[in-house]
Amino acid sequence: MCGIIGYIGDRKACDVIVSGLKRLEYRGYDSVGVVTENGGELYIRKGAGKIGELEKKLGLSELPGNRGIGHTRWATHGIPDDTNAHPHTDCTGEIALVHNGIIENYLELREELLEKGHVFRSDTDTEVIAHLIEEELKTAGDFEEALRNALNRLKGSFALGIIYSRDVEHLYFVRHESPLVLGIGNGEMFAASDVPAFLPYTNRAVFIDDGEYVILSKEGYTVKDFRTGAVREKEVHTINWSLEMAEKQGYPHFMLKEIHEEPKAVKEAIYGNIEFMGRIAEEIAEYDKIFIVAMGTSYHAGIVGKYLFQRLARKVPIVEEASEFRYEAEGVIDKNTLVIAITQSGETADTLAAIRLAKRRGAKTLSIVNVVGSMATRISDLVIYTHAGPEIGVAATKTYTTQLTVLTMLAIALARHLKTVDEDYLNTLEEDLHKLPELIEEVLGYEDELKALAEELEDKRDFFYIGRGISVATALEGALKLKEISYIHAEGLSAGELKHGPLALIEDGVPVVAVAPSGKTFDKIVSNIEEAKARKGFIISLGDNDELRKISDVFLRMPEVDELLSPVVYVVPLQLLAYHLAVLRGNDPDKPRNLAKSVTVE
Ligand code: F6R
Repeated sequence: MCGIIGYIGDRKACDVIVSGLKRLEYRGYDSVGVVTENGGELYIRKGAGKIGELEKKLGLSELPGNRGIGHTRWATHGIPDDTNAHPHTDCTGEIALVHNGIIENYLELREELLEKGHVFRSDTDTEVIAHLIEEELKTAGDFEEALRNALNRLKGSFALGIIYSRDVEHLYFVRHESPLVLGIGNGEMFAASDVPAFLPYTNRAVFIDDGEYVILSKEGYTVKDFRTGAVREKEVHTINWSLEMAEKQGYPHFMLKEIHEEPKAVKEAIYGNIEFMGRIAEEIAEYDKIFIVAMGTSYHAGIVGKYLFQRLARKVPIVEEASEFRYEAEGVIDKNTLVIAITQSGETADTLAAIRLAKRRGAKTLSIVNVVGSMATRISDLVIYTHAGPEIGVAATKTYTTQLTVLTMLAIALARHLKTVDEDYLNTLEEDLHKLPELIEEVLGYEDELKALAEELEDKRDFFYIGRGISVATALEGALKLKEISYIHAEGLSAGELKHGPLALIEDGVPVVAVAPSGKTFDKIVSNIEEAKARKGFIISLGDNDELRKISDVFLRMPEVDELLSPVVYVVPLQLLAYHLAVLRGNDPDKPRNLAKSVTVE
């Protein structure tokens, strides 16, 4: 789970690489490295730490040459230290490479290469690739053949950037189960894990598929299949994300910027899908056996999806973490099954594995994805894009509310198609859906209040988030946001579950955040709040019924909104609360410890 970038052209390669690495840091940030080539010599600088700290220290911007590759790492094999930082080289020092992914058979390959006399310097799985290519070069006709031979021996996931000092005209890139995209310039070419890395220079992109490698020169690119060597024709896409969209725009953190982008993102999600949601609904209407699979925040969106499908389309999907589904569901998936995968990145390993399993078993697959051209979009039968734009902060915010938006649209379209719910109600719901951006804007106005609340709660050690019905997902998501960026322990649960155990933990001053929109179970959650209050819990409630004010220490008056749409609005103050707590506690909310944006390993 790392970021890679490469450049070949007339510019100073290190400048392009360093600026690209800064935009790729969300993929991993425990170490950094750059290699450039000049006059047939490789110049390598690397070390543990973040690019901001290392740029000067390592003199990354002083490297000579007009071609090179760079890497920002999130450790999988070998601790994050200077030696394990990429690039890695072969024994001769002529081949240097960077890698995103995991080589599963690296121990076996390492043993074999050690026996042949290769000397290893790092503990990484990556280094074997450099030595393997070196070994293959002894018998292959040229570098390309050696590379192909080596690639065909690798098991696992890998996006690679490779530079060979004897071949001064080219750079080589490879994709297999880790993302890779080319940026097409005029007289210069880029390759990276993601588009924002080269967006300042070009918005023309080619998405590389699994099993392909790229020979990149200043003037162009050739993409080939590494199993057969056959040339692959590729489509050039024009990316309409502006660089501005991919940068902070004056906000102190990407996360805060992305929370403030939610009204716009939700609007885009609506308008980007309005035309064809009916067609998608028609295609899936016949399925009664439905699984929703996802991880983390996307899994919470799946829970909202379940309530929406039940209440509107009278279908009862099973929501499963993809990491469980992929090992447990094999026997129950068949051609009568619909598997809906929700994934912001479209690259989460467990979610991709779940989609692949579903396909193998003949099921219909529908993916709800943010990243255009990502793997999930390519292996699924149907795709709905969330149109949230790039999300750089590790914690998902606008991509969650857009996932909820498209799930709501899908459930409405299904209900309309199946005539399961009164058409007037669906029309009203649809009208209300269009008001969501405004309502989010309104709750963003609570930011100062939430900041003050964060100050009051800064030293608390445990939080409880409770909700009922569709709001259970909001409680879970509120707790996840708090945990991942503020490092405060938090539990999200259905309010009904409270007195079956967790109530034992509520004592004087323990914050209990109650997500309580008006609806079917409002009275029930009021009782649960009372139970927590009786144990002297510190009650923070979110709702549109003033009753709550009387029983709460802090009451956040939310705009009136249909209960089914409430998760899109109610989660926003919880994101802001988590954000401000993280900042007050001195954490960087964009880069929470131990986490990375896309989890491309199991
Ligand atoms: C939390 C968060 C993660 C992701 C999860 C799945 O804020 O971002 O829990 O939701 O890793 O990622 P995607 O949606 O890319 O499959």
